[in-house]
Amino acid sequence: MTSAHIPGLTALTLGTSPLGRDTVPGSAAEDEAVATAIALLRSGDFVDTANMYAGGRSEEVLGIALGELGAEEREEAANRIITKVDRDLETGVLDGDRVRRSYEESLTRLGLDRVRYLHLHDPYLTPFAEASGAGGSIEAMVSLREEGLTDVIGIAAGRVPVVAQYVATGAFDLLLLHNRLTLVDQSATGLMTEAKDRGMTVFNAAPFGGDLLAKGSVAGTSYAYRPVSDELRAWTARAEEVVARHGVPLAAVALQFSLRSELVDSTVVGISSPARLDEARALAAWAIPDAVWGEIEELGAAPTPVHDEREPVL
Ligand SMILES: NC(=O)c1ccc[n+]([C@@H]2O[C@H](COP(=O)([O-])OP(=O)(O)OC[C@H]3O[C@@H](n4cnc5c(N)ncnc54)[C@H](OP(=O)(O)O)[C@@H]3O)[C@@H](O)[C@H]2O)c1
Repeated sequence: MTSAHIPGLTALTLGTSPLGRDTVPGSAAEDEAVATAIALLRSGDFVDTANMYAGGRSEEVLGIALGELGAEEREEAANRIITKVDRDLETGVLDGDRVRRSYEESLTRLGLDRVRYLHLHDPYLTPFAEASGAGGSIEAMVSLREEGLTDVIGIAAGRVPVVAQYVATGAFDLLLLHNRLTLVDQSATGLMTEAKDRGMTVFNAAPFGGDLLAKGSVAGTSYAYRPVSDELRAWTARAEEVVARHGVPLAAVALQFSLRSELVDSTVVGISSPARLDEARALAAWAIPDAVWGEIEELGAAPTPVHDEREPVL
C-alpha cells in the first residue's frame, strides 16, 4: 500500500471505537481491553482511535498497552496510531482552542509526545463559516501540522455534504468517511474520487455498516448505527443467499468490497477482541469467486438508510 502521506499504510486499519468502554481502571474488564489493545498494536496494522471513543477509555487503554511494550516496539507501534480531535462533549464547542486541548488530552491518555496522524472528527455542530474562519478548527489543525506537532491532518466524519466543505478547502491530507462505501451504500464515491484527485489519502471506515454486513439479516442488526428497514433486511437476506451458494461469508464480501476499491487506501474495521482480529484477516484473505460480485450486482441497489441530503449542513 502506498500513501503519499502515511508511509507503510496498511490495507486494514484497526478501529477501536468500543475499546475499553465501561471498563473501570484496574478491573479484569480493563485487563481484557488492554490485551486486545496489545494485539492491535502488535499486529503491524494502523490503529484508529479518537478523543471521544468510549469516553476517552479507548485512548487510555491504548496508552496502558503501549506502556507494556518494550521501548523499540512501543515507538514503532506509536507511529501507527491515528487519533482524532473532538468537540467538548459538554458544550459542543469545536473551535481552535478546543482542537489544541483535545489533542493535549489525547497525548496525555496515550502517554505520547506527539501523534503523527490526526483527524478533525465529526464537526457537525459547528457552522462551517466558524470552522473555516479565524480561530476556527481548520486553522488550528493546519497550525498543528505547521508547528510539527503532527505530520499530517485529516477530516473524519460520515455526512458527505458536510465533509465535502472541508475537503474543498484543500487544507487536509487525509479523508475518512464511514458507512458510505459498502455493499449497500456507495454515496461516498464522488467525494472519495475528488479526494483522490486532490492527492489525499482515503480511509473507508465501517465496511460492515457497523453491524449488519458482519452479523447479517437476523433481527436486531443495525446499519450506520440506525435501525434497519424491512426492505434492507430483505435485501441483505438475498445477498446472504447469493454468497452462501458459493460458500462465502457475507462479511468477507463486505470487507473485500472496500479492500478492492481503487478509491480506498485503507479500510477501517472495528475490532473488539484478538479473535475478531484473526477473523478479519481470514475474511480479508477469503478467496471469493468472481461470479459473486456479478450476482450481488444483479440484486440491484440496496435500500440504504443513509440519506445525508436530509441532514442539516451548518
Ligand atoms: N467519524 C469517524 O471518524 C468514524 C465513524 C465510524 C467508524 N470509525 C472508525 O471505523 C471503525 C469501524 O467502524 P465500526 O466498528 O463502527 O463498524 P464496522 O467495522 O463496519 O463493524 C463493526 C461491527 O462488526 C462486527 N464484527 C466485526 N467482525 C465480525 C466478525 N468476524 N463476525 C461477526 N461480527 C463482526 C462487530 O461486532 P463485535 O462488536 O461483536 O466484534 C461490530 O458490531 C471504528 O472502530 C472507528 O475506528 C470512524
